[in-house]
Amino acid sequence: MSTAPSAGARTFFVTTALPYANGAFHIGHIMEYIQADIWVRYQRSRGHTVHFVGADDAHGAPIMIAAEKAGKTPQDFVAEVAAGRKPYLDGFQIEFDHWHSTDTPENVELSQSIYLALKSQGLINTRTIEQFFDPVKGMFLPDRYIKGQCPKCGAKDQYGDSCEVCGAVYSPTELVEPYSVLSGARPELRSSEHFFFCLSDARCVAFLRDWTRGSGGHGGRRLQPEVLAKAQEWLGEDEGKLADWDISRDAPYFGIEIPDAPGKYFYVWLDAPIGYLASLKAYCARSGMDFDALVASPDVEQVHFIGKDIIYFHVLFWPAMLHFAGRKTPDRVNVHGFITVSGEKMSKSRGTGISPLRYLEVGMNPDWLRYYIAAKLNGRVEDVDFNPDDFLARVNSDLVGKLVNIASRCAGFLTKRFDGALCAPEPQALAGFAASWAGADAVGKMYEDLDYGRAVREVMLYADAVNQYVDARKPWEIARDPARAAELQSVCSTALNGFRDLVLLLAPIIPATAARALAQMNAQDVGWARIGDAFPEGHRIQPFAHLMGRVEAKMIDRLLGIDEAPETAPAAAGDKRRASAAGASEQAKGGAPSEISIDDFSRIDLRVARIVAAAPVEGSKKLLQLTLDLGAEGTRNVFSGISTAYRPEDLVGRLTVAVANLAPRKMKFGTSEAMVLCAGDDAGLYLLGADEGAEPGMRVS
Ligand code: 2FM
Ligand code: ZN
Repeated sequence: MSTAPSAGARTFFVTTALPYANGAFHIGHIMEYIQADIWVRYQRSRGHTVHFVGADDAHGAPIMIAAEKAGKTPQDFVAEVAAGRKPYLDGFQIEFDHWHSTDTPENVELSQSIYLALKSQGLINTRTIEQFFDPVKGMFLPDRYIKGQCPKCGAKDQYGDSCEVCGAVYSPTELVEPYSVLSGARPELRSSEHFFFCLSDARCVAFLRDWTRGSGGHGGRRLQPEVLAKAQEWLGEDEGKLADWDISRDAPYFGIEIPDAPGKYFYVWLDAPIGYLASLKAYCARSGMDFDALVASPDVEQVHFIGKDIIYFHVLFWPAMLHFAGRKTPDRVNVHGFITVSGEKMSKSRGTGISPLRYLEVGMNPDWLRYYIAAKLNGRVEDVDFNPDDFLARVNSDLVGKLVNIASRCAGFLTKRFDGALCAPEPQALAGFAASWAGADAVGKMYEDLDYGRAVREVMLYADAVNQYVDARKPWEIARDPARAAELQSVCSTALNGFRDLVLLLAPIIPATAARALAQMNAQDVGWARIGDAFPEGHRIQPFAHLMGRVEAKMIDRLLGIDEAPETAPAAAGDKRRASAAGASEQAKGGAPSEISIDDFSRIDLRVARIVAAAPVEGSKKLLQLTLDLGAEGTRNVFSGISTAYRPEDLVGRLTVAVANLAPRKMKFGTSEAMVLCAGDDAGLYLLGADEGAEPGMRVS
């Protein structure tokens, strides 16, 4: 890091939101990482320096409780989750420089010093508050761990903050017959001293009014217009709109101790964003950089990528914490919407949507997903929909039909007929290409502004122009006439110059494909600045290997679990799709499942179900659509891969066993909301039954 930056060179410190370390990445995480990674790669291709870091968000009550349930220490639990990150990040070519954790010495030191700095500014106070306490577990209960009857409509088993039946919002103390989700005990109201960050202080409000409106690094905007509008709504016109923020939790809690306050810990959201700095600090130590200088430098642009659900934390708490602790504040907060799958909102907790690991396991090219997501992102806080049919059409048309097609039609002639040598391109054709699209500066600005969809559309205009040129000049016809060899070399060289530009323009989005293509063109070491430069006359390329295949419908079926995925659980074979989607199941590897505890087994909600309707599924040879009556649990729609073994009319009225708490699964034909159990092997499938007298909805244990 001793070389001085060249004129115009920028330095960035880029982060993505830190994922809770209580489960594998879902498609929403991957979308955010792809968005950030594209931006980072773009900046690097311009010669800028980027420090791109991430970390696991390790602390908090839910992780502590999940670890306890799993019979592990929180540290071991978190370490196991963290160990599973690599296949996702490598698989989707997401190039963090460093991946850290908030449960680390760096984060303890930074969190405590930031807290002490805020305290010395007079921005921390304490107050005694009353909260529900679980006398059996010996702990204060977060709202989501308290249930009871809705005080408005009387519905049972409602959460402590709102009723899912009538929509009423209330505080946990208003619940009728409250109980602890953890122990079932009736919680008691107890008092405890809590620490607050005084966000309502006039200094904070004044600072945030100014900060949210300010401009970011390099004269750009700090917040997107809709995010600024939201922040202004929260800040309001009058004093007193912001409430102080409760930053402490009582032991037992998995977190960082508050200095000089025994038994008190920082609330996870206090130390989580500080984890951005902790990760950078660890990265600096690893690579010999001066963390304090880097993070304080006005020349280093601090950029956070986050989802729309955590704006409040990042545009109010976080900048205020940093500023009043005497630190530099973020230059830019980039907020994206959620990802939906075929228009349906994905549930983080139930993990619905498409599985990123499954995507890789079925052999789908990561660059396809990166391209598709890029094509749908626009820099505004809008949701992005993954639509399987649209994905197939878009990738095949743009990447295979337009981009790769140019190389497929021209590179072979150069290597076979001219020993890979290019001649000078045709200036008139290049001018025609240049006129067809907005140009590298404009597309660069689109990348900078995260308007990747527009960037992609512009690049595809350029690709269209090159393809039209190849269509018009027909190198395959020229090749038939040996007397036209020079013309053949000229046409193919011209097209290949266009192809090189296209690859450079798309390299941030499709890095693996771009790297292969550039290697084959012997053009590895070029970046954004070389877009539009012609290959020198005589430049040699290597023989081209296959660059990218087409998306096939059967891959998407496998991704969504449609073809070989009966929604049943044959006792011997297991449900291969689900098992492999889970990542590391022994069943998927063909072995016997490992031993589980009775607690593991009891997490599966098995119920007696009556099949009240059964019908074939149009377009599927394997599936039947079943309607299950689960008694008090209601009815469920299930797609089950048993049509080779049963006729629908023979199933109606039968009792069977269903997994009632399986996450709903979006399939091509609709959503499957449970699974019926079958025994089976290659010889056949046999639906499990229950003796008459069993009632729908009865628990199976
Ligand atoms: O919402 C979440 O998933 C949080 N774990 C995000 C934390 S972002 C940052 F503050 F660490
Ligand atoms: Zn209610």
